[in-house]
Amino acid sequence: MSSDDLRLLAEEAAICVACGLAETRTNVVFGVGGANADLMFIGEAPGRNEDLRGEPFVGAAGRLLDRLAEEVGISRDEVYIANVLKCRPPGNRDPREEEIEACKGYLAQQIKLINPAVVMTLGNFASKLLLKTSTGITRLRGTAYPWWGRFVVPTFHPAAALRGGERVLNDMRKDFALVRRVLDEPAAEEHVIAPQERAEAGPGATSLQETTQLEFFA
Ligand code: URA
Repeated sequence: MSSDDLRLLAEEAAICVACGLAETRTNVVFGVGGANADLMFIGEAPGRNEDLRGEPFVGAAGRLLDRLAEEVGISRDEVYIANVLKCRPPGNRDPREEEIEACKGYLAQQIKLINPAVVMTLGNFASKLLLKTSTGITRLRGTAYPWWGRFVVPTFHPAAALRGGERVLNDMRKDFALVRRVLDEPAAEEHVIAPQERAEAGPGATSLQETTQLEFFA
């Protein structure tokens, strides 16, 4: 795709006033990375550091994310990183339903433009949004879900590993190893989940070309 399209979208987001977070943000944190990245990380929302810098995952959670990716041979400059919300919720509170609604069109367009082979969702908000489920991350993780012609691999949010210690970290390591395998061999049968689980998880293997961006999360 053309990086111009992504730049134009970022310019649009930079002046967005679609929700109340426009009043409290310092910067819109649109996303960073290559416009042709094979792997996209999707977090929850910018925190304090990200709001100040205008870049996602630049604090402690971001350093852990970089480390886990590097352990499976993926460097930050090979991926695209974005969040469900582009603006920081005050005090790092949870995103609200109406904020996600107002913002999700940007994320949908980012996914469509970047067209990554694998999307790794970090934590409950991103995982539930993409997989259209109320199932929590503890049950969702550990599987690569076919999603609009690509795979979604949900894992814990790195901040949860910072709080939760070795067990969470070990599970995240398994999920990063899964991402590595899916990137290396996207067609491998073992990544494809059972049809019933896929129905619960969302639209399955429907091709990206068959949809408009907003159908992702509609
Ligand atoms: N947590 C997130 O979900 N996103 C960031 O960009 C930083 C912390």
